[in-house]
This record gives sequence, structure tokens and C-alpha cells, in this order.
Amino acid sequence: MEKNDYARKIPEPCTIVLFGVTGHLSRHKLLPAFYDLFHRGLMPSGFALLGFARREWGRGDFLSWAKGEIEQNCRTGFDEGVFSLMAPHFYFAKGTFDDEKSFEALKGVIEGAGKEQGAEGRTLFYLSIPPASFPLVIERLKESGVADPLNPLQKVMVEKPFGRDLESARNLDSLLSSAFLPSQIFRIDHYLGKEMVQNLLPLRFENPLFEYLWSSERVDHVQISMTESAGVEGRSAYYEQAGAARDVLQNHLMQLLALSAMEKPEGREGEREKKIEVLKNCSIENLERTSARGQYAPGFEGAKPVKGYREEEGVSPASLTDTFAALKINVDTPRWQGCPFYLRTGKRLPKRAAEIALVLKPDREGGEKESVVFKIQPNEGVQVEVLSKVPAESLMKKVRMGFSYEKQFPKESPEAYEELIEDAMLGRSSLFPSEEETECGWKIIDPLEEFWDKNPSTLEFYRAGSRGPASSDKLMERDGRKWRKL
Ligand code: BG6
Repeated sequence: MEKNDYARKIPEPCTIVLFGVTGHLSRHKLLPAFYDLFHRGLMPSGFALLGFARREWGRGDFLSWAKGEIEQNCRTGFDEGVFSLMAPHFYFAKGTFDDEKSFEALKGVIEGAGKEQGAEGRTLFYLSIPPASFPLVIERLKESGVADPLNPLQKVMVEKPFGRDLESARNLDSLLSSAFLPSQIFRIDHYLGKEMVQNLLPLRFENPLFEYLWSSERVDHVQISMTESAGVEGRSAYYEQAGAARDVLQNHLMQLLALSAMEKPEGREGEREKKIEVLKNCSIENLERTSARGQYAPGFEGAKPVKGYREEEGVSPASLTDTFAALKINVDTPRWQGCPFYLRTGKRLPKRAAEIALVLKPDREGGEKESVVFKIQPNEGVQVEVLSKVPAESLMKKVRMGFSYEKQFPKESPEAYEELIEDAMLGRSSLFPSEEETECGWKIIDPLEEFWDKNPSTLEFYRAGSRGPASSDKLMERDGRKWRKL
């Protein structure tokens, strides 16, 4: 246990039912996050981690498989002694989504595990399943009585995507609220669990220095970027249905925009309301001039040759899916009149990075623009880029002043999933987007997707490892601006 964790509130005992437990996310992030929380002393005294999957496993098989995944992917260091204390909390129920009987059996396993762990009916369902399985799983949960829409002791955590447009998102929401109380639904946007993202509001509102800069009076424009060097990584079945705009822009980037642009909330509970105020005032126009999309062609990741998107397993050779998307958004609130927000995301770009950059207005025509950059990853921190005189010369040069988590905080930040799981168990909702927030995201993305569908020639190929499609640079050039080099 780390020092500061002693004072933390510990959740009540509960049974956590993991759907999609053998999937990529669960193996790489969820199971390790449960272990890391346990290692830090932040799991309840009684809890059941109950995997539901089709594999011919018993409890012991599940346990030893999960151990292997945790050993490889945990953050806090694998410790045999710690794991042996965690082992009695693992349970398994074999079943498939289409089989009614396996849900009846699941009900029995939940009850048994709950009794053993003293959970007293508190159950957290974690849905990390493909969108197409949602209706079936929810239906089965309801008809078997495993989920009860009136039971305040039940919670559900739902992984994105929340639909693929406004209509399907609304359908998904009504489906979810037919099985769970709306206040007990926790929609996951894991960017909100990242430490630097959680620090945005405290930094903004506790430091008058930032607040002084924070409006279109001093900010020329804002750039919000999330780039990856990786490709689609075996997730083509999902990605072919989504693409970069639906996968990242609609959720992670819109959330970062909302947090950067919002007014000061009344406490944590007021955050959603202030974000919604911003999201409702976002507008796009002239999409042929203010959006760009691309798809990666063969190229390199570092020195390693890599395939183009269309050559990836499971991808159609004629796929028009966007693996890069950029969009200019206006935020029509008094604070941001005339200051555009530029969002971009893409796979197979030169590096993995995520940041919010406020590019400041120069003090004179043609002067250099300074920037304040909130670096979400890698090297979390804040960087201020200003001009300095070069020693022994009269020249000016851009220099960086910085706050780096690594240097200032010796303790490594928790993984986003540790934070989100802990908060959901405690019933804290501020790190989870509301139904309305996700709908606002679709209201921006739907017209963009429609425009792209009608104009297939907007899809431009870019070499893997390059800076993305030329149309994205043009989008900025038209406004006399440039993307920051990440
Ligand atoms: C997910 C997207 O939400 O975020 C993935 O579905 C993406 O496509 C991932 O790779 C990136 O997350 P992070 O935390 O590594 O930036």
C-alpha cells in the first residue's frame, strides 16, 4: 500500500462480473488494474472477480490463465505473495451469450460468490463486449433475472463504442436503462481516468496564471492531438465499423475539448453540466475545408516495415475506413468566440502522443506564437514554450519551461483503469461521460461521417510512419496555422 492510500475510502464488498473477460482489453488493462488496486490495498475486503466466457474452464483454469495475463501486464510489479491472497477472489462461470441456461447458471454463481465474499447483493457488471452482442446480453441479463432495473445495488460499467451514430447510441441507452437504473450506468472513456486529464481542471482553476490566459482574448487557437504509432492491432472487426473519427474523435477528443473549454464547475458534481454546456455550443461548418481524413498505406514503424491498413487481417482490400481524422470545431461560448479548436487523431503516425496545446496570440503582427501545452502522454506534464534571448547573441529562440510528473512526483501515476474501476465501485460518476455528453459527440460526428460517405474521394492515403494526409496540413494552412510537431 502506498502512503496516501491509507486515507482513501475503500469500496463496499461486491461481485464483479466480467463479460468479455478473455478479450484484449481485459487481458491488457482490466485484470491487471484489479490486481494493481488489490496490491495497493484499494479493493474491498470481500470481492468476487467472476469471469464469464465460453471456454471449457473450471475456476482453477481461469485463475491460472488470469495470473499469466496479470504477471505480464500489471503496473505495480507482480508479487506471488500478493497474488496468493487475491486468488480466492476469482470465480468462473462458463457460458455463451446466446444460451439462456448459462445465464441461469451465472445467477447461481453470482449468488454463491456474493455470499462467500459478503457482497450482500452488490454486483458490478463490466461489459467489454462487441457492440453487436449488446442487445442479446442485456436481454439475457433481464430475462434470467440476473439484472434488475430497480435494484440500486447493481451497477454496470460499459466500454465504448456507445453506438456508431446518434440513433444507435440512443438505442443502446434505452436498452441499458431497461436493465439498470440510469444513475448506476458508468460509461467508460478511459481518457478521463488519465492522471494529466484529471489534473486539467485543478491546474486551470487553482492557478490564476492559467485562468488569465484562458480565453480567445489571449489564445489564438487550441490544438488537441492524439496520435499512435501502432496500427489497428488485430481489432479490424471493430475498427472497420468505426474508423478514427468514431473511435477517438467522438469520445476522447471531444471530452478533452469539453474539459479545456468549460467554465468553472460547482464542485465535482457540476462538471458534467459545464461540459455539456460546451458540447452543446460546438459547431462545424464547410466540412470540405475544415475536415481531413486518411488511411495508412504501407510504410514504417520506426525502422520496421509495416503493412498498409487494407492489407491488415480482416480488412477489406477496398476499405474506405479512416485511420486518421482531423476536424476544426468552433466553440460558440462567450469565452471562445473566434478561437477555433483543431482536433486530430491517427494510427501509424510517427509516435504515440496526446496533448492539448493552447497556442497564444502574438503580441504584434507577425510575431512568434507561444504555447502552453498539457502533455497527457508520454512524459505527462505541462510545457510552456516561450521566446528567450540566445546567450551572447541578439537572436531570440523558442525555449521550453516545464513541469514533469516524472521529476516532481516520485510516485508513478496509476493507470486510467485503476482510477475508473475504483470510482465506479465507490459510485463516483464524475469521471464517466453522461448519456447526454456521448450524444453531443455524435451530433458533431454524424454530419462529418455523412459528408465523408457522400464524398469518398476525401479519403487520402498516407504512408505509415508519416505525419498523416496532406489534406490535414492544408486544413491548417488555409487558416494561416500549422499543426504542432509531436
Ligand atoms: C481506444 C481506442 O479507446 O484508445 C484505440 O479504441 C486506441 O483505438 C486507444 O488505440 C488508445 O489509448 P491510449 O490510452 O493508449 O492512448
